[in-house]
Amino acid sequence: MKYNFDQIIDRKGTNASKWEPQVLNQLFGEEDLLPFWVADMDFKVAQPIVDAIVKAAEHGIYGYSVRPEEYYKAIIDWTEKRFGWKIDKEWIDYTPGIVPAVNYAIQAFCMPGDNVVIQQPVYYPFSNAIKNNGCHVVSNDLVFDGEKYNMDFGDLESKLKDPKVTMMILCSPHNPVSRVWDLEDLKKVAHLCLENNVFLISDEIHNDLVYSGYKHTIFGLVGEEFLDNLMVCTAPSKTFNLAGMQSSNVIIPNPVHRQRFRRILEKNSIGGQNPLSIVSLIAAYTEGEEWLEQLLEYLEGNIKFIEEYLKENLPKAKMIKPQATYLAWIDFSGYESDSRKLEELMTKKAKVAMDAGTWFGEQGAGYMRLNFACPRELLKKGLDRIASVTNS
Ligand SMILES: Cc1ncc(COP(=O)(O)O)c(C=O)c1O
Repeated sequence: MKYNFDQIIDRKGTNASKWEPQVLNQLFGEEDLLPFWVADMDFKVAQPIVDAIVKAAEHGIYGYSVRPEEYYKAIIDWTEKRFGWKIDKEWIDYTPGIVPAVNYAIQAFCMPGDNVVIQQPVYYPFSNAIKNNGCHVVSNDLVFDGEKYNMDFGDLESKLKDPKVTMMILCSPHNPVSRVWDLEDLKKVAHLCLENNVFLISDEIHNDLVYSGYKHTIFGLVGEEFLDNLMVCTAPSKTFNLAGMQSSNVIIPNPVHRQRFRRILEKNSIGGQNPLSIVSLIAAYTEGEEWLEQLLEYLEGNIKFIEEYLKENLPKAKMIKPQATYLAWIDFSGYESDSRKLEELMTKKAKVAMDAGTWFGEQGAGYMRLNFACPRELLKKGLDRIASVTNS
């Protein structure tokens, strides 16, 4: 089946956070913005997912639900087929999202007052989770080499050596700098965490959205010797545009750690799952691959479109070319170096909503994050708005 990613589907009035005027007003102080912020897509999902949900919806009874064998098999088969990692059913836990999973992990593996390492600029709910659970954020800042962001291993080593650091949260691929980490990078991270007794969480929510020329290594394949010190988070949410279905997969190979994590899930009564979320995950992982391949092609087209657009119309804006994710990290400091004024320029004048670079840590000053998972016509409309105010 050929999918049409150019189709513009009106999401207004569907309770979509990305488009709701009330949410836009609350976050950006304006209602009538063209939204390129929160990470979901303006594309319709794969037809088999719609069919599975419609079938379950038409049944008409939505009682307490249990995950069937096919649910686990779908996750196991997908993980092996796409990444080559064989996982056991026992290693998998359900959480209603990866942000909840990160919070539960901090509750399970850290004590209040501990330090947790992240690599800023990075997905900001990590910092919130750390602070909300009484721990402290320690950033091993990424370093920009003029083309891409890299890890600073000297700094990482010195930070992990501090006995107060008990956990590291890795974002792989990395949001917002859209970097696919090399196997060598991952090995170094794994070694340093193991040597220093720091538990490692690898948030791989974007791991299916990797572009040609790049290879993502799921952390479970970095080395057998690291499996006991690891929790990997995956999900169909970004890949198949199912964020609102709230299902994600927490994979913990070590049984002792798994028990600690499960104890926290029990304490928070996490277990049951929405029946539509169950069938959507199964349909996505078993019948969604064809859609995903077409999506990736379309998204690569959007990256090319942005590159060319910037070159021609916004030459002082510099995009870090995404290796993965549908998020473009763009340096607009050539137009406005003051971050607050830059944000105002985008919302009040251009009337577009993007995540401000500073949301990801002060390291993001001068940058904006543009979600390009939308029909090209919308993307052009947004870029036109930006060009019209930056070039005036
Ligand atoms: C790195 C990362 N982790 C987690 C999430 C959100 O996870 P969830 O919606 O499953 O809580 C996002 C969403 O953008 C993300 O980019």
